[in-house]
Amino acid sequence: MTAGSVRRHIWIAAGTAGLGLVVLVVFWRPAAAQTAGPQATGRGASDFENGRLQFHRTCAQCHGRNMVNSGTTVYDLRNFPIDQPERFIHSVINGKGDMPSFRDALSSEQVRWIWTYVSNRGTPP
Ligand code: HEC
Repeated sequence: MTAGSVRRHIWIAAGTAGLGLVVLVVFWRPAAAQTAGPQATGRGASDFENGRLQFHRTCAQCHGRNMVNSGTTVYDLRNFPIDQPERFIHSVINGKGDMPSFRDALSSEQVRWIWTYVSNRGTPP
């Protein structure tokens, strides 16, 4: 290999790495925006839809996608008494048993959205 061809190879390598970085930055940005919390929920979206999205971000890892779980180790939210919104909010804000408190993680508006989702049994009103 001549010195010239080595240099050319270095430039090609640097160019490829540079392009990779540009691609990374371009594609990484929107992903970061999506995980940004409340802003990620569409403005003008219904409380139900916001609740559905928030539930799947914050609660589904324990309570199951679309609230479907075996109900043996974790509370089955599909059976939560829908005439007890205060109990729901109290349990979510303060935590209960093995469930952590969401006081610092969720705003009262976000909890209300999730309640709209849960109290409609996961079916749009
Ligand atoms: C780390 C796992 C975990 C996460 C995350 C979680 N939960 Fe729970 N949740 C539980 C467990 C376990 C119970 C049963 C608690 C008990 O009765 O001892 C429970 C119970 C509940 C109950 C019933 C409480 C009652 O009054 O009997 C509600 C309502 C509830 N969760 C809502 C939510 C909502 C809404 C979210 C998301 C903001 C959420 N949970 C996130 C584990 C979790």
